[in-house]
Amino acid sequence: MANPYLPAPSVGAPAPAAGQLLPMFSTFVHPSAAQRVCNVLASTYLSEGKLVQEFEARLSAELGMRHPAALNSGTSALHLALEVAGIGAGDEVILAPQTFIASALTVVQVGARPVFADIQYDTGNIDPADIEHRITPRTKAIMAVHWGGYPCDLTEIQAIADRHGLVVIEDAAHSPGATYQGQAIGSISDFTCFSFQAIKHLTTGDGGALCARSPELAREVFRRRWFGIDRASSPVNELGEREYDLTDVGYKYHLSDYAAALGLANLDGFAGRMTARRARVQQYRDGLRRVPGLTHFVHQPDRESAHWLFGFHVENRLGFIRALRARGVAASVVHDGIDHNALFGGKRPDLTRQRHFDETQIHIPLHDALTAEQAAYIVDIIKQGW
Ligand SMILES: Cc1ncc(COP(=O)(O)O)c(C=O)c1O
Repeated sequence: MANPYLPAPSVGAPAPAAGQLLPMFSTFVHPSAAQRVCNVLASTYLSEGKLVQEFEARLSAELGMRHPAALNSGTSALHLALEVAGIGAGDEVILAPQTFIASALTVVQVGARPVFADIQYDTGNIDPADIEHRITPRTKAIMAVHWGGYPCDLTEIQAIADRHGLVVIEDAAHSPGATYQGQAIGSISDFTCFSFQAIKHLTTGDGGALCARSPELAREVFRRRWFGIDRASSPVNELGEREYDLTDVGYKYHLSDYAAALGLANLDGFAGRMTARRARVQQYRDGLRRVPGLTHFVHQPDRESAHWLFGFHVENRLGFIRALRARGVAASVVHDGIDHNALFGGKRPDLTRQRHFDETQIHIPLHDALTAEQAAYIVDIIKQGW
């Protein structure tokens, strides 16, 4: 069966048909996924089982993740990381506002307070130089969100964390497959949280993974993702009851086998799809090198983005969005600084680079179904001006 999400071989002009938009995102479903998921349904073993284990083993072997625990969402991964790190009522967590609300929402869910630090205007990531003066006796963690898949300055962030005894939690929802100084994202900090939601690089429909660097904390993650019960050391007795003594709060956050089947299918060819994504990025960078009114984000040679997004800054942003839309191409800010939400205390004027970023950032389509011809068309229409 042909996969409807894979790009059709290009023929002739790649411009979208009238009334159609080249979308910002696509959902990749591998051609083998339907059969694999059907096999799970036929087996009637739907919940967390062998396929979840196999998925975790492949996340380790193929994406370099350390002790990945497969979960039902990236939000669950963030929440569980905060819980296992022991962050709770009265504590503070420092993070950048340039993210999705899930990052700060989970901080509020554990009873702690999100404290926003400013970003680097040229990446959207937290600025390490704006962290230290925000640390108080209540600060327990730094949450580093890799905006669009581009890794934060982890060496500087870890150095600050070490000086002040803080935990580092990476929100790597956009970053499976990214590397920092030669190391895989998912193998570096105390905790790293991934999302496998539908429009991410690697999807299980909804899902996520939490990597804890230390084996002890990883054991805690595995125990507390399933109610707080250690399955391995809680045998079922003759009465048919599982023996355990619940000592702390756990959650029902595990991934299920039918979702893992989709994840396993989508891991096939993942590296090749990332290569194609990097090629589209290079095409955009080369094609848009000297366009008046457009300023590129910075990419340091010591790290490789996962390229979930392709973003830059533009003058007259609304004009840009309308010009692309008129020629059949979507463009989006994806997310603005989340500090503006009342729950998080409202917009902070002192975060000047975030405020500037809010006004100029924009992203253009980048996903597995985007062809070289479509990218060339997008470059072409941008170069025509807005
Ligand atoms: C930066 C960031 N963190 C966390 C999440 C939450 O992930 P999920 O939707 O899998 O819960 C998202 C979702 O898109 C995100 O963009």
